[in-house]
Amino acid sequence: MGITFEKKRKIFHLFTKDFSYYIHVNKYNYLIHLYSGKYLSDISKERVSERYIDRYAFLNDDNLETQDEDYYFSMMGSMFEVAPFGKGDKRNAPYILEGDNNIPLTNFLFYSYKIIKGKIDKKDYPLPYIKFKNSDIETLIITLKDEKRDVYLNLYYELSSKYHTLVRYASIINKSKEDIKVFKMSSFELDLPSSNYKLLTLKGTWSNETDLEYINLNHSLTKISENHNGRNFTYNPSIALLDKDTTFDNGEIYGFSNLYSGDFSYEIKVDEIDQTRIIGGYNDETFFYLLKENETLYSFETVIIYSSKGINDMSHKFHNLIRERLLPKTKELQNNYILINSWEAFYFDFDTKRLLELIDEAKKEEINLVVIDDGWFKNRNDDTSSLGDWEVDTSKIDLDKVINYAKSLNIDIGLWIEPEMISYNSSLFKEHSDFALIPPSYHNVTLFRHQLLLDLTRSEVVDYIFDKLSKIFDKYDIKYVKWDFNRFLSEGYSSYLLKERVKETPFRMMLGTYSLLNKFVSRYPNILLETCSAGGGRFDLGMLFYSPQIWGSDETDIALRSSIQFSKNIFYPLRSIGAHVSNRKLGSLQDKACLAFFGTYGYELDITKISEEDKNKIKEFNSYFKSFHNVVNDGDYYALYNPYESNYVSWNVVSKDKKTCLVYFMLYRKEQTKARFLKLKGLKKDKYYFNSLTNDIYKGDFYMNVGLNLSAPLESFTSMLFVIKEVDEVRATLYRKTKQVDGGKRDKLL
Ligand code: GLA
Repeated sequence: MGITFEKKRKIFHLFTKDFSYYIHVNKYNYLIHLYSGKYLSDISKERVSERYIDRYAFLNDDNLETQDEDYYFSMMGSMFEVAPFGKGDKRNAPYILEGDNNIPLTNFLFYSYKIIKGKIDKKDYPLPYIKFKNSDIETLIITLKDEKRDVYLNLYYELSSKYHTLVRYASIINKSKEDIKVFKMSSFELDLPSSNYKLLTLKGTWSNETDLEYINLNHSLTKISENHNGRNFTYNPSIALLDKDTTFDNGEIYGFSNLYSGDFSYEIKVDEIDQTRIIGGYNDETFFYLLKENETLYSFETVIIYSSKGINDMSHKFHNLIRERLLPKTKELQNNYILINSWEAFYFDFDTKRLLELIDEAKKEEINLVVIDDGWFKNRNDDTSSLGDWEVDTSKIDLDKVINYAKSLNIDIGLWIEPEMISYNSSLFKEHSDFALIPPSYHNVTLFRHQLLLDLTRSEVVDYIFDKLSKIFDKYDIKYVKWDFNRFLSEGYSSYLLKERVKETPFRMMLGTYSLLNKFVSRYPNILLETCSAGGGRFDLGMLFYSPQIWGSDETDIALRSSIQFSKNIFYPLRSIGAHVSNRKLGSLQDKACLAFFGTYGYELDITKISEEDKNKIKEFNSYFKSFHNVVNDGDYYALYNPYESNYVSWNVVSKDKKTCLVYFMLYRKEQTKARFLKLKGLKKDKYYFNSLTNDIYKGDFYMNVGLNLSAPLESFTSMLFVIKEVDEVRATLYRKTKQVDGGKRDKLL
């Protein structure tokens, strides 16, 4: 891998063994995107950049028309790395700035470059980042200067051959005396000379998050974006651009994922000569920044992953990167726990006695983390009050007693909080109504769930809420926190920002959230954090920087949950998806366990009220989980059946050494006998594997090419989880003779 700059032809080449990215500095100092895709050892800049449309001409300083007959460069048709705004390129532009003259012409031209080993230190800039080691990456920094102003744009390209990723972001530095208004700030632009793409997106709503949606592009602008600032139900910030015929196993794909939890947008435009431009960055609908002299503004980081081998290969790359270079260290604590959460067991209706009963039962069922969800703090008996009043409701629970009792049984306690919020009905609001985010002289502020956001653009509010929380977490031995966020931003203009900066509110709110999270994880490095937003409404790499897991969805019914997890799996590693077994009507406890198994795993029901048989099953599931969760956590994931295109949902996960494979299969609508073969992926083709479905041994290529025979009649929502384990040849031969492996026992979970 490497990053080179060929001085004579002015060509940058960023490459790994599978990927090439070529940039050319043209004779007018525009950065031209020449190529990205499969590895290419060389390129012809002229042939690639010629477009036969609108040859570039301009008036020079002497008012003479200037045109270069030998040189093809087109404002309308060239592929830019940074397209200008307000010039002849009328496609979407990545940056729009304005200085004192109120003219937003933005024209960045090549100025200098640097290639370094490792990552640039952003000097405590409060945005999440991929924690690359120096040996993982090389970074190219290209500096451009605005044609007319002393304003610079740095483009950062972090190339990793270890992770097969290109992480991109940008910064704008104002070295002029003018105040620069930044209306649009992107992290990347990528121009591609084809329109043969479709988009893979994850859209949704509460309890139906991350629904897989393919979008066909046309010549109008397609914008995949969020404007709820911290709630990404409408669109998740991970998307992919793929060839129209790309499948899970073949074809070209570019995946994009933002390290940001606020408003973002991806703009995709097919131009008039059928090229595609994609730009990602802050959503300009709600973004603004006033950049003063010597100030620097950063975009968030966007991870870009290219693969020529289909969606599954892209998933592996995202999963590896996120697991190894994004999730916080507390991911190691995930292995310690099987949790039970009180929400669907009790909602707000609990007291010390009920909690102690829950702890007793947890002990019996080998659950070792009891999470007290909403309702433990002062006067919080329903969702109409008390957010901000972070003090234990002693009339309801004796938290010391609960913790000590749990400890005596080797059980840890977790707590739910929603720190970015304030209830209208709360002591905090009575004392400090100014802490709530309310625009100046604005009365009809929208309440959601009876609550408002705290004005986290103000550091004193961040400090106040952190101190309040610290009093709890310093005093009580809490090992896990569920950090919720149940409303989104509306009327998002702080009364405390200067008029000229008030439109910075959404961005500053997000920075406030990150600063609060930073304080929290620095002070409590051993608390396992799970973030949440009304279920899976803030599922993104920004949050995964702080919390190794995010609650997947309030929907735990297996019908919908299975597709919610399937689509999340495309980008996010399974260990990051909060998944619990609940009491929902559909499916047996076992069906639900099979699915939750492929996430963080835990329970969300009143286990004191279930049958003895179910209690025993829970114990059995737990021991099964303990034996295999390392495969789910660290293995390679393969989608087998896409529930959006078939009556089945199925995947398998293979341990890195390819010795163990876990398979999930569920059928939605009842089917009678039907030739149904489940072909697995990722096994070693010439090794023998035992499978716990039929207790047989076959070679890897049999499982992958013939598949497991599931042709029997199947009832609706039949769920299966089985294990495929490598056995050595001697055992395989012996087995064939005697049909006895592991005592011939069929796995009990199945
Ligand atoms: C949100 C979460 C739930 C639960 C409730 C508590 O809706 O998604 O899991 O924690 O808040 O109020």
